[in-house]
Amino acid sequence: MCGIVGYNGEKKAAPILLEGLSKLEYRGYDSAGIAVRNKTGETEIVKAKGRLKVLSEKTDGGNAVEGTVGIGHTRWATHGEPSEINAHPHCSDDKNVIGVHNGIIENYQELKDKLARHGYTFYSETDTEVAIKLIDYYYKTYNQGPLYAITHAMTRFRGSYAMAVMFKDYPDQIYAARNDAPMVIGLDEGESFLASDVTPILKYTKSVYYIGNQQVAVLGKGSVKFYDLDQMEIDIEPSTVTWDANAAERGGYEHFMIKEIHEQPKAVRDTINSVVKDGKIDLSEVGIDEETAKKIHSIQIVACGSAYHVGVVGQYVIEGLARIPVRVELASEFRYRDPLLDENDLVIIVSQSGETADSLAALRLAKKKGARTLGIVNVVGSSIAREVDHVFYTLAGPEIAVATTKAYSAQLIAMYALGMQLAKYKGTLDDERYASMIEELQNLPDQMSRVLEDKERIQWFAAKYANAQDMYFIGRGIDYGISLEGSLKMKEISYVHSEAYAAGEIKHGPISLIENGTLVVGVATQKRLFEKTRSNMVEVKSRGAYLMGITNYGNYSIEDTADFVVYIPKTDEYFTTSLAIIPLQLLSYYLSCAKGLNVDKPRNLAKSVTVE
Ligand code: M6R
Repeated sequence: MCGIVGYNGEKKAAPILLEGLSKLEYRGYDSAGIAVRNKTGETEIVKAKGRLKVLSEKTDGGNAVEGTVGIGHTRWATHGEPSEINAHPHCSDDKNVIGVHNGIIENYQELKDKLARHGYTFYSETDTEVAIKLIDYYYKTYNQGPLYAITHAMTRFRGSYAMAVMFKDYPDQIYAARNDAPMVIGLDEGESFLASDVTPILKYTKSVYYIGNQQVAVLGKGSVKFYDLDQMEIDIEPSTVTWDANAAERGGYEHFMIKEIHEQPKAVRDTINSVVKDGKIDLSEVGIDEETAKKIHSIQIVACGSAYHVGVVGQYVIEGLARIPVRVELASEFRYRDPLLDENDLVIIVSQSGETADSLAALRLAKKKGARTLGIVNVVGSSIAREVDHVFYTLAGPEIAVATTKAYSAQLIAMYALGMQLAKYKGTLDDERYASMIEELQNLPDQMSRVLEDKERIQWFAAKYANAQDMYFIGRGIDYGISLEGSLKMKEISYVHSEAYAAGEIKHGPISLIENGTLVVGVATQKRLFEKTRSNMVEVKSRGAYLMGITNYGNYSIEDTADFVVYIPKTDEYFTTSLAIIPLQLLSYYLSCAKGLNVDKPRNLAKSVTVE
């Protein structure tokens, strides 16, 4: 859950490392550090507690640090509090071996005890210091070079890691090792780069290498070689990244989140266009054909956070359209259950990053049980994308804000497309409805743009309720799925205590929390359930709630109940999430701004949760 970078070339390394870290700061931001080797072979390590800008100020934007080879790290603390001593890089006492690490070495205590018996002293509380000192131990004990020392240490590590290591005796090389944590390598003329994701590299090259699990890379100046654990050289073909470098910049917006909210029509349009061809959904690139579809007896959708909320909506869509039983489950629960699965079941893993530890573990369990697996993934080449049987790539582009918006919206499109096509194959969706749904799907991007035009009213409402302590979101069916996501957004970036309830459930307990002025958001986009949800809204209003309503144009009777209403354009009922979520994203965004919070980097959170 940290970010790592490396540079080996002829240019001054520190400014490049700092710029790279700024692109990865979404992965962790409680401390940062760099290590740069200068021409005399000495390495300068600079660390700072707090945001990257503290490190940048300390090094004059990197200009105060000499040298053309270096590594860097931005941290999200796992072992040890955020502090300068716990910040990376960590090194051997003689500074011969220096490294940065993203992930967790689970057996670090056992390794630490072993090293202590061999005279090693530890200054930080981190597992990374242990890992680097273990490499140092094998390096000095066996005297067989860095590759030997690293691969030997890798056979002892249990856990996940993406590491970059420098050795004083090998001044022109950076060594990288990986297991279950992301790492990308890029080459340009006379220089090489490594990073936790492609965004720091995009500016230099779009041709990148994805290093595999339990593999080591040796980066020279403009060259890279890959090795397996037996130190045998292996071939890895470069892949081309289609993401635009500008997509990872704020581009005039105050925050990445509001930029990404506005990018949703494009993310949705691109994802639709990737599968809708000649008026039909074409899943050939995903690899799901009619024969495969007909073999599916049941579906389990497994994910975390917002991706799980996509699953909640997906459950209604796929089950409703294709009449296949669908269950949705949190990956952190699924992985410790003993799920009943066989080759007739499809397990869908939804993940923006493709690196979420619980989702990856769930995927591996599903595969072990013999189920067919499909990933809905945004990051090309990520672990989940590489390990699933079928991958449906969402085309949201790089998402930087910790709170997901455009990736969530693109994932919904994947769910709709899957639901519709499975239904078509199974004969549960007739040609006329299928054609009208395709048309509605293609209308969504423009309709999303229309919803975005209403943002000033929502900004006004958010400013009015900036002091809200508690907030409740209620809805039925798909509207319950929307409520869950709206509530999560509110918690994570606005720090407002919020809960989402299936509207019919509130009288079974939560209604006792409603008092004068409690803010309740009622989502009512489903025709069949509109009156039911409206009755639940009346119930909370009569207990003093202040009500915001979200419904479709035409449902004007809601104004008899709600104090503030946001209307969304009419679309197929299965697609309403795509429109109704936008006001809720805007509400949490503007509320966070009104409270003066750090919208893009909320406290305690990281974008990609690669630890359990
Ligand atoms: O990368 P993933 O989609 O697997 O991430 C899953 C969750 O960690 C993520 O959706 C998280 O809940 C977001 N911060 C929500 O905005």
